Amino acid sequence: MYWTLSRRAEQLTSSAIREILKVTERPEVISFAGGLPSPASFPVEAIEQACRRVFVDDPHGALQYGPTEGYGPLREWIAARHGVAAERVMLTTGSQQALDLLGKVLIDTGAPVLVETPTYLGALQAFSMFEPRYVSVASDDLGLVPEAMTPEVTRGARFLYAQPNFQNPTGRRMPVERRRALVETAQARGVLIVEDDPYGELSYDGTQLPSLLSMNPDGVVRLGTFSKVLAPGMRLGYLIAPPALLRKIAQAKQAADLHTPSFTQRVAYETVRDGLLDTHLPKIRALYAGQCQAMLDALGQHMPAGVHWNRPEGGMFIWMRLPDPLDASTVLQQAIERNVAYVPGAPFYANTTDPRTLRLAFVTVASERIRQGVAVLGDCLQQALAETAAAH
Ligand SMILES: Cc1ncc(COP(=O)(O)O)c(C=O)c1O
Repeated sequence: MYWTLSRRAEQLTSSAIREILKVTERPEVISFAGGLPSPASFPVEAIEQACRRVFVDDPHGALQYGPTEGYGPLREWIAARHGVAAERVMLTTGSQQALDLLGKVLIDTGAPVLVETPTYLGALQAFSMFEPRYVSVASDDLGLVPEAMTPEVTRGARFLYAQPNFQNPTGRRMPVERRRALVETAQARGVLIVEDDPYGELSYDGTQLPSLLSMNPDGVVRLGTFSKVLAPGMRLGYLIAPPALLRKIAQAKQAADLHTPSFTQRVAYETVRDGLLDTHLPKIRALYAGQCQAMLDALGQHMPAGVHWNRPEGGMFIWMRLPDPLDASTVLQQAIERNVAYVPGAPFYANTTDPRTLRLAFVTVASERIRQGVAVLGDCLQQALAETAAAH
């Protein structure tokens, strides 16, 4: 062997979702497993025209190195949308990079990090590189429970990682009163909140609830992304942070990649600067609302008694809980044999898992296939329930 892995790398495991996605690449598989946005939502022509404008207007600038914090006009545009000063905004290479950078500058080995129950698997992957001790904060159908942020739970915590809008994986949205209570509690305990919000703009009726950032700009780092409103292949996200913390994150970003690609940032700016999102977002919302409804209708028709799921008001995910004693990982094996896939809930839990839960992603599957896939899933569950009844 020519190499010795770091202790950190030894501990890395492949994401459970990636393993499932390998199976779902077969065209006959109806996959509710992936978390990808629908390609039908990409504004291809607008992005193509933006590329041309960038090449005509300032090709050399777009092909040169740029500032670590990001392209000035795009920072200004993001700042204006959030009502903050541009010095608080940094462009990142996807919001996934923002998670990594926050891990780098905020987590020491063994330090407590507070997370929702369940939470985004990709955040756990990013933070785990820095070997925190996860503390799962009690959450219910409306999200984090502010009263669970007791002094014992929050002691020494480096931050709380929270997704208030259409959370990945549960699709739930936190009501305004709870947001206020959460921000006040975190403020009282001196805990920084990392607010990750890739899905907030995908509310089906267009309503936006106030961000956690707007409630305490000095105690919240907000992450956003162009992945779900333009296209994920651009790898363009951003963070909004108090200036002193942002300067530290900029040092970490310099070490990581110097800066996010100049070209992509300019293309994104040219794409959105004249208000494209005002006309484009309603199209994505209508598309996803229709897909969600198709799945909810099919679930209502095909699920056996005792199976529970939520009715998301936005985003890309439905969360399901199977009746005792079914296990979502076991049922998945049967579903895959019949060419239907989903992601079991277990990997989304930082500590104690709930093996009965699973996530259904519905935006990349056509409505007719959604109906077929849910019918098969219902059948698998009926069968699994019949088998467990016979065993008793
Ligand atoms: C909650 C959450 N945060 C961050 C990301 C990363 O997105 P990106 O790096 O494409 O901005 C995702 C992607 O699915 C996500 O669901």
